[in-house]
Amino acid sequence: MTDNPVFPCNFVIFGATGNLATKKLLPALCRLEQAGRLPEGMQFIATGRREWNDNEWKEHLRSVLHERLQARFDETVCNHFVQRFIYVRGELHDLALYQQLGQELAKPRMGICSNAVFYLSIKPADFQSVIKNLDKSGLAQPRGLHRVVVEKPFGEDIESAQALNRLLHEHFDEQQIFRIDHYLGKDTVQNLMVFRFANTLIEPLWNRNFIDHIQITAAETMGIENRADYYDHAGALRDMLQNHLMQLLTVVAMEPPPVMDADALRDEKVKVLRSIRPISKRSVHAHAFRAQYGAGSIDGEHVVGYQDEPGVEPQSITETFVAAKFYIDNWRWRGVPFYLRTGKRLAETRSMVAIRLRHPPQQLFRSTPLESISPNWIILSIQPEESMRMEVHVKQPGLEMNTRVISLNASYRKDDEVALDAYETLLLDVVHGDRTLFIRFDEVEWAWRVVDPILKSWAQERDFIHTYPAGSWGLFEANRLFDAEDQEWRNSL
Ligand code: BG6
Repeated sequence: MTDNPVFPCNFVIFGATGNLATKKLLPALCRLEQAGRLPEGMQFIATGRREWNDNEWKEHLRSVLHERLQARFDETVCNHFVQRFIYVRGELHDLALYQQLGQELAKPRMGICSNAVFYLSIKPADFQSVIKNLDKSGLAQPRGLHRVVVEKPFGEDIESAQALNRLLHEHFDEQQIFRIDHYLGKDTVQNLMVFRFANTLIEPLWNRNFIDHIQITAAETMGIENRADYYDHAGALRDMLQNHLMQLLTVVAMEPPPVMDADALRDEKVKVLRSIRPISKRSVHAHAFRAQYGAGSIDGEHVVGYQDEPGVEPQSITETFVAAKFYIDNWRWRGVPFYLRTGKRLAETRSMVAIRLRHPPQQLFRSTPLESISPNWIILSIQPEESMRMEVHVKQPGLEMNTRVISLNASYRKDDEVALDAYETLLLDVVHGDRTLFIRFDEVEWAWRVVDPILKSWAQERDFIHTYPAGSWGLFEANRLFDAEDQEWRNSL
């Protein structure tokens, strides 16, 4: 739903030379340019600490786009996009930067408007300076027209998230604030809602009567790259589970909203989070498992262990793998465990939701050579494959009564359909003022509340962490979370 029909025409990126801007924002914006979706006359201001002039920034931008877009790089589009930029150098805590931004924003730019999006693609530690300085220099006004985009993690625990939210509200109205979780912008995550709510076939099965348990996995082969200063304080629980995986859980578990608008959707997601059974201090061990990667091999190449990554504290016990079990105590899900798992330097890069159905009530084929029939799975693959598959039993052709599992596969995208990056969708939504796929603060707050006991308990147990070899699927110890002996991690499609 569009809150405000007036499109902003200026887009300011704080941290334009950083990791996120380089890998995600700039390529996504350029692809929007390619798709003709950026309003004509829209201007971009890149801010950073490097001593560059406009031309040096533009050179840098061109080479970033070249490298990231590869086959999709189009010289003409790229030139047009690059021409929209100017570069403003400055320190985030220095008011002079904002005064200069103010001057740039006040210049008549093709006579359209002076509304701006401020994208905080920066370390969470710098949020406070930027938010305060934007207001001090008059850039939070006019209220309602300027927008501020806040990247995750939104706080590092419930108290700091509340403090950050209070700070934002001192300087901006709620409708100006866009809390981003890029997982919600993934096409396949949005498809999860369509899969559930547009197919009569699915809904009757989607509850405790038919589902044994649900697994949500986000595995990466990638290590922490050059992000030690952020990651070593965050860890996998804060970096991925509290936000991306929790959001996936809400989409999988929520009730259909009465209408598809921002608040109706977010109301349903909050209900799920509020229904998650709190984990008591004593049961943290049974509900959560953490580990850290050691040296190993990825795609045949030796990689160093986490503690040897540049910038990581030598004795760091920050987790790079986390697995956790949650129960949702409502009529639909009571008793169904949700197992969430994420890690870096795992065997594969793969995100998926795997739903295991219950055994049929009667094992009619028990006496056949196949002693016991394995239960059905529904696998919703988010990336790299974008697919849905249902595994069903069929009879093997032949004289014997043997069965085998076949899978009904629906690849989500047709061959000629181009994959969108989540940031393309979300950046366009920011420009249009559509907050449906952005997070409301109560979602953030409840998600922190859910993981808070785990965080607190781990903060006290600081002398040991399990290590898994890079390139593996983690450790057998993570299996201790399972409720039943026949439950096991589903690693492949
Ligand atoms: C980011 C995390 O939010 O998501 C990264 O900070 C992680 O650590 C990334 O690598 C994963 O996103 P995607 O879209 O590649 O699954």
